[in-house]
Amino acid sequence: MKKIAVYTSGGDAPGMNACIRAVVRGAIYHGLKVYGIRRGYNGMISGDIFEMTSSSVSNIVQRGGTILKSARSKEFLTPEGRKKAYDNLVKLEIDGLVAIGGNGTFTGAEVFYNEYQLPTVGCPGTIDNDLYGTDYTIGFDSAVNTSLEAIDKIRDTADSHDRVFFIEVMGRDSGYIAVQSGIGGGAEIVMVPETHTPLKKVVSSLKDGWRRSKSSSIVVVAEGDEEGHATEIAEKIKAQVGDKLDIRVTTLGHVQRGGSPTAYDRILASRMGLAAVEGLMSGQKNVMAGIINNEVVYTPFIDTIKKAKPIHDDLLRMVHILSI
Ligand code: F6P
Repeated sequence: MKKIAVYTSGGDAPGMNACIRAVVRGAIYHGLKVYGIRRGYNGMISGDIFEMTSSSVSNIVQRGGTILKSARSKEFLTPEGRKKAYDNLVKLEIDGLVAIGGNGTFTGAEVFYNEYQLPTVGCPGTIDNDLYGTDYTIGFDSAVNTSLEAIDKIRDTADSHDRVFFIEVMGRDSGYIAVQSGIGGGAEIVMVPETHTPLKKVVSSLKDGWRRSKSSSIVVVAEGDEEGHATEIAEKIKAQVGDKLDIRVTTLGHVQRGGSPTAYDRILASRMGLAAVEGLMSGQKNVMAGIINNEVVYTPFIDTIKKAKPIHDDLLRMVHILSI
């Protein structure tokens, strides 16, 4: 292996830059040439590929977003798009890829590898923490901390006005952010896509709290909950409780994807970036470099995409126990 390229794709996540830095500097340390591809698969197709040096990644370890930019590419879903991408990589004699992203990124990488056998190692970069094969994904810890900061602030105003707040956090198919920020923020209820929380149950625990003179209640809702978005859920609950409870809604949205990565994410991203380069050099291909129990583990892309990573029941149980 002599020349590798790195790209970020899908939703950005705090810590992606720390990962790019580790890939670039790790590759240079090991005597490889390293290229950056802008805007993920779109840049691979259009040939937006440039050589990176150690100074290309100076002063980025603390920055949110991704200096390589990101995109969700429609063209890469077509065989013609992937052929163009492959031809551009061949022109530059690139013989290995590091893909930083989530589910969609690895689905693309898996298809591409099966067609062209270009060795690819992934680094899990998504705030959702929904990838099998790693305890945590890059950006998750930062997103949880951002949500917590907001929840703490909302708690102040909720308490002053004796209100109930429904707070929506990200997670289309995954409730990890909701559960962790719910526990950290002392939420009374957490609603996640992995388990169904009937509205009847929500109403009864809110009423319980009210009877016990709780001055505020917080319900953290993952955006993918089967009862709908926080606004819809709040409307349905209002219809059942009338003006007994004073209800407000806050949707945190993309604020969770930005900002400086936490120390945890910077270190995780750095370890994963280096593990991806060293994995490629030792013959790993079509796998993601994850960290399980503090050890680097390589898991086939297909498993990272297809296998579920359930939320531990204990965590959900704990939300309930600790909110009584
Ligand atoms: O996958 C990360 C994520 O932030 C999800 O939690 C969210 O549903 C989605 O991306 C939002 O995507 P977009 O950036 O396209 O709005």
